[in-house]
Amino acid sequence: MPFSAMLNYPPFTMQSLLKDTFELAEKLLQLEQSSEPIPRQSPEELAEKLVLSLPHDGVPQAEVFSRLEAILQATPKTSSTRFLNQLFGGRQNYAAAADMITSLLNVSMYTYKAAGAQVLVEQQLVHHMAGFAGFSNAEGIICPGGSMANFIGMMMGRDRANPNFKEHGSDGRTHTFYVSAQSHYSVDKAAAMLGVGRQNVRKIKCDYYGRMSVDDLSLVIGNDISNGCVPCAVIATCGTTVLGAFDPLRQMADVCRKHNIWLHADGAFGGAALLHKQHRELLDGVEHTDSITWDAHKVMGVPLTCSMLLCKHQGKLSKSVQQDAEYLFQADNEELNPGLRSIQCGRRNDALKLWAAWQALGDNGWHQRLDKLFSLAKFSADYIEQSPDFELCQRPDYLTVCFNAKDADPVQLCDLLHASGEAIIGHANVRGEKVIRLVLVNPDLDTSDLLLLFENIVATRARLISV
Ligand SMILES: Cc1ncc(COP(=O)(O)O)c(C=O)c1O
Repeated sequence: MPFSAMLNYPPFTMQSLLKDTFELAEKLLQLEQSSEPIPRQSPEELAEKLVLSLPHDGVPQAEVFSRLEAILQATPKTSSTRFLNQLFGGRQNYAAAADMITSLLNVSMYTYKAAGAQVLVEQQLVHHMAGFAGFSNAEGIICPGGSMANFIGMMMGRDRANPNFKEHGSDGRTHTFYVSAQSHYSVDKAAAMLGVGRQNVRKIKCDYYGRMSVDDLSLVIGNDISNGCVPCAVIATCGTTVLGAFDPLRQMADVCRKHNIWLHADGAFGGAALLHKQHRELLDGVEHTDSITWDAHKVMGVPLTCSMLLCKHQGKLSKSVQQDAEYLFQADNEELNPGLRSIQCGRRNDALKLWAAWQALGDNGWHQRLDKLFSLAKFSADYIEQSPDFELCQRPDYLTVCFNAKDADPVQLCDLLHASGEAIIGHANVRGEKVIRLVLVNPDLDTSDLLLLFENIVATRARLISV
């Protein structure tokens, strides 16, 4: 007897649930496409409006879906053209469709025995993406986010610098990491989790445009070595979170080679530039790095989360993370058991959605996606530069455009735009000043959407000035 028939509400079939699910999905799409802004609702308003508490007895299907719909209505629409806030937004439709199938399949990506063809799907992605990075014999693993991929890259560096660390912990010497002052905070968190310590992450100076100074890197490493420290890894940021700056990989690789230090490229944001035939130059020298983080859930529009960690050296990844478990790894060779290359045990299948998107787009389609995004960034920067209402921080190298509306506080502007629902957009610090950061990762945006944004900012500034 199906379990549902034993409960005290009418039995349901998966087919009828799917029908309701698709109806709900249809409503979401309509909401996203509406041109009307959706004002922000406070958590207090939502708590009053939504049924959030968990019932003692289950409720009927229609009631479950009505509660789901209310929650869906009240959730930010990250695929709308008004969402310009973080480094993700918009939706790669094939990936989203495959992700729904993924939930139904519900495999765990640790063994071929449990995941079958899905393991081969992930292997294809590793192989193909490694090719874009110029790695010929790589291994890799899809991680739940760039922070986790950075952690693994840094761990491999630590384990190469001090092969005993993994088994015995620190031997009393100071272990160090090197990263630009504009780097993502995940590096500090990883240093803490790796037992190296946040205080031992050296923040290397950047030039005016946010790129790491290689002279400073050399100097700091030299000093540390003279003082008996153990440099574990240099982490290059390829596409910084705010300015979208790319550290000079080729020169950094020279420094790392000289001192035999692991070079990890944090391309969580900027790795996708490798898909563009010309702009891949932003990562010039990438083939000289040892490992790379490359998020598909940012610029490539794949549903969260989907982050590729690539390692150039076959065997190093498994060496750092492998742990025997007789109860799990019982069949097939190492290659077919990705659990040996993962720090997770149970692991969601984040491969199928990326693979499906790649089937639909091909390498050329990704190039075109990137091309559209670069053109949106250029359009925005040109517009801002020419407008008397705005000030551009700097010409963008990549897909973030930092600017200000003259005579207006960017924090207040962003808050008001959010409250009215006209735009969800954020602010950041650049060279000690607050600025608005426009993120262009949704290729469904058109120049008309950007003009509407600029118009809304000017109108909001007028409201601010009048109070
Ligand atoms: C440069 C950079 N690295 C790493 C990350 C972390 O990625 P995730 O959010 O996938 O953990 C981000 C996130 O914005 C980032 O901008």
